[in-house]
Amino acid sequence: MVDRNKRLHGVWSSSRTFVFAATGSCVGLGGIWKFPYVVGENGGGTFVLLYLAFLLLVGLPLLLAEVMLGRRARQSPVNAMRYLTAESGLPTVWSGIGWLGVASGLIILSYYSVVAGWSLQYMTDMASGQLQGADARATTEHFMQLLADPERMMRWQAGFLLLSMAVVVRGVRRGLGLAVRWMMPLLAVLLLILLYYSATVGELGKSIDFVFGLRAAGLTATSALKALGLALFTLSLGVGAMMAYGAYIPDRAPVIKSLLLVILFNVLVALSFAVVVFAMVFAHSGIRPDSGPGLMFITLPLTFGNMPGGLLLGAIFFLLTAIAAWSSAISLLEPGVAWLVESRGCRRWQANLIVGSLAWFLGLGSVFSFNRWRGDINFYGFVDMLTSAILLPLTALLIALFVGWKMRRSLVREEMHGESLHVFNGWYWLFRYLVPVAVGVILVAGLFGLFV
Ligand code: TRP
Repeated sequence: MVDRNKRLHGVWSSSRTFVFAATGSCVGLGGIWKFPYVVGENGGGTFVLLYLAFLLLVGLPLLLAEVMLGRRARQSPVNAMRYLTAESGLPTVWSGIGWLGVASGLIILSYYSVVAGWSLQYMTDMASGQLQGADARATTEHFMQLLADPERMMRWQAGFLLLSMAVVVRGVRRGLGLAVRWMMPLLAVLLLILLYYSATVGELGKSIDFVFGLRAAGLTATSALKALGLALFTLSLGVGAMMAYGAYIPDRAPVIKSLLLVILFNVLVALSFAVVVFAMVFAHSGIRPDSGPGLMFITLPLTFGNMPGGLLLGAIFFLLTAIAAWSSAISLLEPGVAWLVESRGCRRWQANLIVGSLAWFLGLGSVFSFNRWRGDINFYGFVDMLTSAILLPLTALLIALFVGWKMRRSLVREEMHGESLHVFNGWYWLFRYLVPVAVGVILVAGLFGLFV
């Protein structure tokens, strides 16, 4: 079975390719768009510190676990969990982890594609010279106009989904590597330029103080849950995406180093974007740090619109953002698609069409929550909370319990053969004790804070 699947889906050519693909999945709207606005809503530095702690103490062990599970089974997440459950002689309910993941992936993709569509729209706006020299009122107004136009948002969302499906149809390994190899360095260069201009046209000092300064105020169970959810989201955990990518990893390659690189890159991108965004926030009294999902779309055009050659750079920036989102969307599609292909005998294009259409349809809810349903139903807020605060932490908890307590230790060790015994023992301990307790406590306390 395992060998058949190795043939069915193939194996990465090297662990470098895996780093590229995993980075492509992790770096996306999570770091560029979501991170700054969630930091803004949760008061800055202390929240950032919590986020970083969760990345290392919970995110890294979980990343390792997902990759390992995927590599052991070499199947789509749903079937991988079925296979692993049977292998350890556990009751079949445990294989439900795979289903939870597919559901979360679909729900995330639904709103992810809407926001990626905004990026595409902004790319064309920048390229066509709009927003030149715009002030804070004008960029806010510009964003509001986009939100007020559901048809336009639906078209961009559909276009973005079609682009993602086009890659997944051909199999994830082809097409993706190239995009990521060019995109990451370009994104890094652009970030440096942006940082430089934030220092000249924005309030860099205040921004750095906000993003890194520690203030105890605002530290609640709910914000801890949000930091955890954000850490899982930006590392593409809890969906089985990393399981799906792990399924293509060569047999005994050591992965910790690769994963640390992925995390490092992710952190650099997220922190620098946050600094760039808040430099503009603090330079304009009309923009508040807690402006919500529109924050990046209101602030960055201010930077671009007021620097030499800014419009061209702006167009490139939003294009790169869309590409980063695209390489992430691919890994949100893949678990569902791989399952339909393996178990339902679908062809790849059929499976893509099914998952893509579902995501589009579900995404209409998010589109309408910014216009037609505004004030009545905040569907976007609901699906965001459902995934980041409930489904992702829940799946993370279940995976920790599964690997730490249910799977046979010898099987886990066998799969982690590339790592030294010390590293393995440390990881295993974190996994058995720290990860489930931390995630469990935060989940319960955070939900209590949210609902009560
Ligand atoms: N990590 C991506 C981002 O930060 C989003 C993403 C891709 C994702 N695949 C995922 C989030 C799987 C959760 C689970 O933009």
